This record gives sequence, C-alpha cells and structure tokens, in this order.
Amino acid sequence: MRIGTVGTSWITESFIDAIGEVAGVELTAVHSRTSEKAEDFARKHGAGHYFTALQEMAKSSQMDCVYIASPNSLHFEQAVAFLKNGKHVICEKPMFASLKEFEGAHRIAEENGVYLFEAMRNLYTPNFQKVKGRLDDVGEVRNVLLHRMKYSSRYDELLAGKEPAIFSRKFAGGALVDLGVYPIAVAVALFGKPLDVKYTPVMLSSGVDGSGTLVLSYQGYVCTILCSKISTSNLESEIQGEAGTISIDNIGSFSNVQCSLRASKGQKWTGESQRENTMTYELESFVQIILEGKTSTYENMKAISREVLAITEAARKQSGIYFEGED
Ligand SMILES: NC(=O)c1ccc[n+]([C@@H]2O[C@H](COP(=O)([O-])OP(=O)(O)OC[C@H]3O[C@@H](n4cnc5c(N)ncnc54)[C@H](OP(=O)(O)O)[C@@H]3O)[C@@H](O)[C@H]2O)c1
Repeated sequence: MRIGTVGTSWITESFIDAIGEVAGVELTAVHSRTSEKAEDFARKHGAGHYFTALQEMAKSSQMDCVYIASPNSLHFEQAVAFLKNGKHVICEKPMFASLKEFEGAHRIAEENGVYLFEAMRNLYTPNFQKVKGRLDDVGEVRNVLLHRMKYSSRYDELLAGKEPAIFSRKFAGGALVDLGVYPIAVAVALFGKPLDVKYTPVMLSSGVDGSGTLVLSYQGYVCTILCSKISTSNLESEIQGEAGTISIDNIGSFSNVQCSLRASKGQKWTGESQRENTMTYELESFVQIILEGKTSTYENMKAISREVLAITEAARKQSGIYFEGED
C-alpha cells in the first residue's frame, strides 16, 4: 500500500519510521507548504513525489492512503480532499474539531468506499489490549485516575507573546483536545460512554485551556482525567477495583503496565515488552482493516473516536471554550 504524508514535524517523521517497520506499506509522496521543504523532506525519507498543493496531491495516483499530521482545525478540509479522491485517510488525533465535521467526513468516506482512521496510537498497543482483556482481574471498578500532563515547549512561545497552533482557538488547540484525548479514549474504550461529563479548565490568555480536570461519572465509580500542557506529572495512571489495581506508566504509549491484587498482596501480572515506536501497532491495524476489510474493528474504533469527540466538545462548550468559527 502506497502512503503519502501531510505535515513535516517530528510526528510525521515518527510515522514514516513506522512505515519502514511495517510490512506491505511504502512512503511514496509527501506534502509541505513550501517547495524547498517538500523536496528536502521527500529526499530525506526516500519518497518519489512531493507536493505543495494539497488538492493536486489528493488527485494524484501516487498513493492509496494519506497520513495527516497538520494543526487540528485543518484536518477536516484536508481529509475530505483525499476522501473525495478515493484515498484512505489516517488522521492524527484529535481527528476533528467537532461532531459535525466527524459525521460529514465519515459520510464522504462511505460514499467513496474508503476508510477514515484516527491515529489514537495508545489503543492499538499490546499493553492496552492486555489491560482491556484482563480488566476483570481488579473486580468491581471503584476509582479511575488517568492523566497526560507534559509541559510543552510551545508554552514558552505563548509566554513570549506568540500564538502557536496548539494554544490557539483558530487551530482548535488546548490541553483537553491535545493531551486529554489519550486518557479519554482509554476511558471510553474500557468503560464506554459516561453518564455525566464535567470539565474544570485552567484557561490561558489565548482563550484555550492550558490544563484541566475532567470528571467522567460511571455507575459505581468516577474516572478523573487530568491533562496539562503547562506542567508535568510523575504520577502513574491507575484503575482501582475492589480486588486490585492496574497501574499504567504512560497513557500515550502503555510502555509499562502492572496489576497488583489485594488478596495476594503482590504483583499478579505485568505488561509485554513493546516496540519503541508504538505507531507501528496502529499502522499494522489500519493496513489489516484496509486489506482484509475488518469491518467490526473499524466500526468499533470509529464509535470510540466519535464518543471521545462528543465528550471533548461537550466539556469545552460547558467551560466556554469555543474554537474560531463556533461562537
Ligand atoms: N500521535 C501523537 O503522538 C502526536 C504527537 C504530536 C502531535 N500529534 C498530532 O499531530 C498533528 C500535528 O501536530 P504538530 O504539533 O506536529 O503541529 P505543527 O507542528 O503545528 O504542524 C504540523 C505540520 O503542519 C504544517 N502546518 C503548520 N501550520 C500550518 C498551517 N497554518 N497551514 C497548513 N499547514 C500547516 C507544517 O508543515 P509544512 O510547514 O511542511 O507545511 C507542520 O510541520 C496534531 O493534530 C497533533 O495533535 C500527534
């Protein structure tokens, strides 16, 4: 399968590395807004074609699938351009800025007989799958704390008077949609749709949240989600049940997980040793879905993406966080 990329930051380079590690896929085209950068990026990564005009790239016959890693508010228009031209789309998280965009893009994907994936890499890792498969070990779930909190170098730019995309309403930024989506996706994939959603953000001068606490209520327990781009946490995430506790070192990669049982007063199981580049797992799944038509996996992941977006949109709007064009 031939893949093109949109965006030239480190995350695209990481995805290109993943392409190199996964069987049956190759990088054939790249996009950058400037032709010198596009040409350099194509040469550096061995892509045969480069583009500066997105519509031209979308119409090109040089790829079957595109990976989009541009600022969030651009995902919808860019994804639609490729979907309309019969290309599968792998879109970085957060896939879209609103449910309206989500439904519109999926309708276009269906009309054109192609797939539209959200690159929520943590959900495809072996250790997430292990936690999901062995959740019953902790018994009745009673308390969940999931978080993603990492000081962003782009916050320094904001403090210096600039407005980087990730802290901008124009580009659909903010801590909840940038980092909060990792723990929210885990909560939705493990526990389903919450009964209630409450968000308390710490607002920045740019009009988006720099950090915040999201409380998802479930029958019999509460899942607290912490996200931040203006401070860093050294805590582990935890799923606490009446019979034991699962600890997760990093909600974005699930690199180390372990479960300890109350009864045995000790560790019961630990996670697997995973590959360094966790983007390889999601890419393998996307390729399998495309080539083997694994419709139930696709529909399941799509439902999770939709619910995550429903939660972030509701949480944002109840806190008065509106992206440009929404208010
Ligand atoms: N899965 C993960 O672990 C992970 C990690 C980081 C980011 N992400 C996601 O990846 C996406 C990109 O994030 P990022 O931090 O890399 O963003 P970014 O650095 O702001 O932009 C990414 C790329 O988009 C292009 N771009 C920037 N501004 C643009 C504009 N105004 N119009 C059109 N293109 C523009 C640039 O490429 P050119 O200049 O070459 O055109 C740039 O390299 C986001 O959705 C983010 O949430 C995911």
